Amino acid sequence: MLPEFFEFYNPTKVVYEVGVATDLKPELDIIGIKKYFIISDHIINNVGLVRKVKDGLIEAGYEVTGVYLEVKQDARLNDVKICLEKVETSGAEGIISIGGGSVIDTAKAVNILFSEGGDLVDDYSGAQTLTRPLKPHVVIPTTAGTGSEVTMAAVIYDEDNKEKLAFVDKYLLPNLAVLDPEMVLSLPPKMTAATGMDALTHAVEAYVGTQASPVSDAFAEGAIRLIMQHLVNATKDGSDIEARGGTLIAATMAGIAFTHSMVGCVHSMAHATGALYRVPHGIANGILLPFGMEYNFELITEKLARLAPVMGEDASGLSEEEAARLAIKAVRKLSARLNALGALPLRLRDAGVPEDGLTAIAEGALNDGTSFYNPREMDAEELLPYIQNAY
Ligand SMILES: [Fe+2]
Repeated sequence: MLPEFFEFYNPTKVVYEVGVATDLKPELDIIGIKKYFIISDHIINNVGLVRKVKDGLIEAGYEVTGVYLEVKQDARLNDVKICLEKVETSGAEGIISIGGGSVIDTAKAVNILFSEGGDLVDDYSGAQTLTRPLKPHVVIPTTAGTGSEVTMAAVIYDEDNKEKLAFVDKYLLPNLAVLDPEMVLSLPPKMTAATGMDALTHAVEAYVGTQASPVSDAFAEGAIRLIMQHLVNATKDGSDIEARGGTLIAATMAGIAFTHSMVGCVHSMAHATGALYRVPHGIANGILLPFGMEYNFELITEKLARLAPVMGEDASGLSEEEAARLAIKAVRKLSARLNALGALPLRLRDAGVPEDGLTAIAEGALNDGTSFYNPREMDAEELLPYIQNAY
């Protein structure tokens, strides 16, 4: 059935090539400015990736006005303020972010204030608070997971008030997403598996979500196909450039899918699990994905059935329900292979969640913004058995 209405807006240019992050001149010439400030973190810097990009920029005649490396595991409000000052005083005209979701989201928030001034929380938190394009922002992802390089959202943690602030605006979409498999080669197996399962969760939840359209479906299916083909190999052998490229493209495609079609109960549960017990986002999603698919099963049977062949399963001759179950089984098979590589826990108990904490996860999931987009209405009591099964 076709949706009554949908829109698709994807102005971020995506370029993919092995080594392209060190040869950005053709793309930056199109953007037209000369002075960039780099935002990254110490982990990325220590493996030499910041230098690689910086040298390439200087060689191409661009000026790097400064580098900020203090971004922590969560994008934090105080870092945004400190970084902003350095960007402003450096004389930069635009920003290049090199990193995972925290770095990219920090750069998005910095760019709001760098372009528009004002107070981040008072003036810009929430949705559609911007009125015009921001200064140029080029993103070079170093994980294959968050998709933040092509999404219109940023999540910033306010340490003082202990809350996560969401910023959603079409002007947060970066100008350019640079997909270079060489930039993800150093990602360790556990991070590779976890971020890959995050991307898979984006794609599956976008696909079965209430906001899905034929266009977002195409991106979600493409992402799922690539993850099923490449995630195990990328986890097994980090230097497998083909597998790295496949997962990187998949994460971006999943990002395009979910920035249009949203995510649902798996993310609601994962956000609660992360907030309460510090379980990394990708690991929580990886554990909870099949259980979230089961929670929604009655309402998404047809779509899950369509996913079975996309996931590489032979669903010929099966009923719709059987094919849908096969899709869930395919996710479990993938998780089991990643688990056998020592890269992904399969149960909440193995990720440090206490048994008496499951009710709090169910209740926390209900309060998460993503719960509004879940196909089945979220109910803590009804959700709890699925979380118990994941324990
Ligand atoms: Fe996610």
